[in-house]
Amino acid sequence: MCNWKINFQIYVYKMRHLHMCFLCMTALLTLFYIFNERPRWDYLEPLKQTNKINNEKGIIHIVVVTCGQRSQETLIMIKSAILFNYYQEYLRFIIFTEDPLTDTLKEKLSDWSEIVPQTFDFQLLPLKFPNQSESEWKTLFKPCAAQRLFLPLLLTEVDSLLYVDTDILFLSPVTDIWKFFGRFNESQIAALAPEHENENIGWYNRFARHPFYGRLGVNSGVMLMNLTRMRNFNWEQHVLPIYKEYKLRITWGDQDIINILFYYHPDKLHIMPCEYNYRPDHCMYMSICNTSHSGIKLLHGNRGYFHLNKQPLFKIIYSAIESYQLGTNVYTNFLMPLRASLSAQAVNESTCGKIARDSLLVANFIFEN
Ligand SMILES: *[C@@H]1O[C@H](CO)[C@@H](O)[C@H](O)[C@H]1NC(C)=O
Ligand SMILES: *[C@@H]1O[C@H](CO)[C@@H](O)[C@H](O)[C@H]1NC(C)=O
Ligand SMILES: *[C@@H]1O[C@H](CO)[C@@H](O)[C@H](O)[C@H]1NC(C)=O
Ligand SMILES: *[C@@H]1O[C@H](CO)[C@@H](O)[C@H](O)[C@H]1NC(C)=O
Ligand SMILES: *[C@@H]1O[C@H](CO)[C@@H](O)[C@H](O)[C@H]1NC(C)=O
Repeated sequence: MCNWKINFQIYVYKMRHLHMCFLCMTALLTLFYIFNERPRWDYLEPLKQTNKINNEKGIIHIVVVTCGQRSQETLIMIKSAILFNYYQEYLRFIIFTEDPLTDTLKEKLSDWSEIVPQTFDFQLLPLKFPNQSESEWKTLFKPCAAQRLFLPLLLTEVDSLLYVDTDILFLSPVTDIWKFFGRFNESQIAALAPEHENENIGWYNRFARHPFYGRLGVNSGVMLMNLTRMRNFNWEQHVLPIYKEYKLRITWGDQDIINILFYYHPDKLHIMPCEYNYRPDHCMYMSICNTSHSGIKLLHGNRGYFHLNKQPLFKIIYSAIESYQLGTNVYTNFLMPLRASLSAQAVNESTCGKIARDSLLVANFIFEN
């Protein structure tokens, strides 16, 4: 009896003790919550925003120069980068353009940034050239393309960027190509894909009247630039003398200048495989770029192929991205219609139609689920 009573009292005591502990814990947790959690919740939204936008290091800069009739093409390029941004990188599009196009671009991009908020921003900048011989630069090659040669001088606050021509479409996340920066050795300042893969149909090896990089030259439509390194190299001080010496012998404007520059400094260039700058030349006669494993990463519809019926694959892919409404179901509104269009007989019968499967390889992988 006595034993039981004592045990009972110990039990009651223990219960009280537990109860006290519980109350203390609750009080502590409440205090902890008030001092820690509450403020954090209040600041969560703005914090997330500023983290993304102020953390310049995490931003992927994509630069394009657009003039004349190229604004729609530019918008489709930008849409493709947003569409394929599977890893949700924060993208910043820097667009060098002339007055008449500014309003159209601004309006459309503002619309899109409301549909897919906090995934990208953009800057529209006027064309800018070294003050001497300004008009000479502007007429070099296609309208305003030489602008890109001066990016290290113009974007002094940017470390690295991806430059693309307006007639480029992303068929893979930008992260895929960005990773080449990590593969640069100490001397490399930029990365490009070869202009050609085959001597018999190469242009530079057969026609160029100036020196050029490597065996078959490089194509400048897709270019990774480490601007920090280009500035350290005094890039523009190499460009101007080359232009002066070779201007009467160059055909493809800024691309030739880049080829000549890297002819003299081959150690400064990193070479990317052809699937990062896939052009009609890679498939129109025969398939000379092996994309069966990695798929096509960036498609380059140069010489107007996104708007011509010569190789329907190019126009069909362009139109599919143009028709897709950002923010809607990617599988049913982009991938399924594109697959259907690519299975058309006209595509199958064209030489470039043979790589239809490779052009959808990445899309199938990321949009299937
Ligand atoms: C170009 O402009 C810079 C200042 O922006 C000036 O120092 C330089 O003298 C100018 N050069 C010519 C050729 O006008
Ligand atoms: C560019 O080069 C600089 C200097 O070597 C380096 O600090 C920076 O990390 C490089 N940027 C990228 C994206 O690799
Ligand atoms: C970097 O790679 C290029 C091309 O392979 C080569 O020419 C150069 O010597 C390399 N630089 C260094 C510092 O290893
Ligand atoms: C394409 O490349 C893969 C490896 O990347 C290789 O296994 C395959 O045989 C190549 N195909 C052709 C036709 O060269
Ligand atoms: C495409 O053409 C090949 C013959 O070149 C044929 O075997 C194949 O069935 C065709 N595919 C379609 C989808 O028409």
